[in-house]
Amino acid sequence: MQHTSRPVVSNQPGPHQDLARRVSRALTHPLRKPIAEHTQRSFALAAEWFVGRQAPLILDSGCGVGISTRQLAMQFPAHAVIGVDRSEDRLGRNHGQLPDNALLVRADLVDFWRLAYQAGWVPEHHFLLYPNPYPKAGHLKMRWHGHAVLPTLLALGGRLELRSNWSLYVEEFALAVAQVTGKQAAVSEIAPKGDYLTPFEAKYAQSGQALWRLCVELERT
Ligand SMILES: C[S@@+](CC[C@H](N)C(=O)[O-])C[C@H]1O[C@@H](n2cnc3c(N)ncnc32)[C@H](O)[C@@H]1O
Repeated sequence: MQHTSRPVVSNQPGPHQDLARRVSRALTHPLRKPIAEHTQRSFALAAEWFVGRQAPLILDSGCGVGISTRQLAMQFPAHAVIGVDRSEDRLGRNHGQLPDNALLVRADLVDFWRLAYQAGWVPEHHFLLYPNPYPKAGHLKMRWHGHAVLPTLLALGGRLELRSNWSLYVEEFALAVAQVTGKQAAVSEIAPKGDYLTPFEAKYAQSGQALWRLCVELERT
């Protein structure tokens, strides 16, 4: 099926002028919002499954319908791959049987990442595939790099890979990573050409949009 999608439109001409201030604030004011009970329960089930696997972890954060989770599980058969998304509707769509080494979890990432950090999890690979861009300048704090959970997300460690069809999102994320960790993330354009990891990737690529990837090797802190 051919999908069409319009490129991201934003009223921002370049990286947000408040980005550095938001990141500093996240570093000095750790998130105190209580963890929702449903995410606590989902995390406990995920932790039980993960302990039973005795395998290195791959997180697919914001996995949508979980197609990338399935693909990653097949690509890395010796890893335990956990896809997390808050949308019951997306997770509930039937995209075939899950490989044994994959798990889909319904949870809010803001809470799930904090629980994963407290539990000492260290993903070997952490994928953030096409997060919601929130392109309006006024929505900076909803982008992952403008969110108070950013320091926790980065402190989990591992090889973090972010993909987006909005180059500014990737550029801002790289600036935030540098501010928090001192590391320079590698950013490049990708052209998957039919070998799509997620439905959003397929939709954007088939609409002729450029796709961007950021990779950075993070230390667990
Ligand atoms: C644009 S979709 C991309 C989905 C998938 N990665 C793909 O590329 O097809 C973004 C996904 O992030 C999920 N999401 C956004 N904020 C979230 C949060 N705080 N916790 C969990 N999932 C979230 C949404 O439900 C949605 O499925």
